[in-house]
Amino acid sequence: MEKRPIPFKKIILVCTNSREAGERVCCAGQDSIALHAELKAWVAMNGLKRHVRICKSGCMDRCEEGPNALVMPDNLWISGLDRAALEVVKAQLAEEFNVQEPKSIGGGA
Ligand code: FES
Repeated sequence: MEKRPIPFKKIILVCTNSREAGERVCCAGQDSIALHAELKAWVAMNGLKRHVRICKSGCMDRCEEGPNALVMPDNLWISGLDRAALEVVKAQLAEEFNVQEPKSIGGGA
């Protein structure tokens, strides 16, 4: 085993766990797969891939509060991730990494 420094300044884990209907609620059933994809695309579009890694995670056992995300190294837990919350996350990333005029998937700001 070789220990190395973490190669990203920030890692955001978005739970995309999926379950069958009738089982415990899951984040995938609350749109987390699309939210993860949108955030990942936004990071790439704004040139942050070298700094920010957007990952899928398995269940983090807070399913009823989902979709859930974990932001490291901030030690920030996000529950109820939705489109509005995603915009807040993007705005915070843009500010933190000094993205001038952030691009959005629709082509605007
Ligand atoms: S399915 Fe996402 S926290 Fe359990």
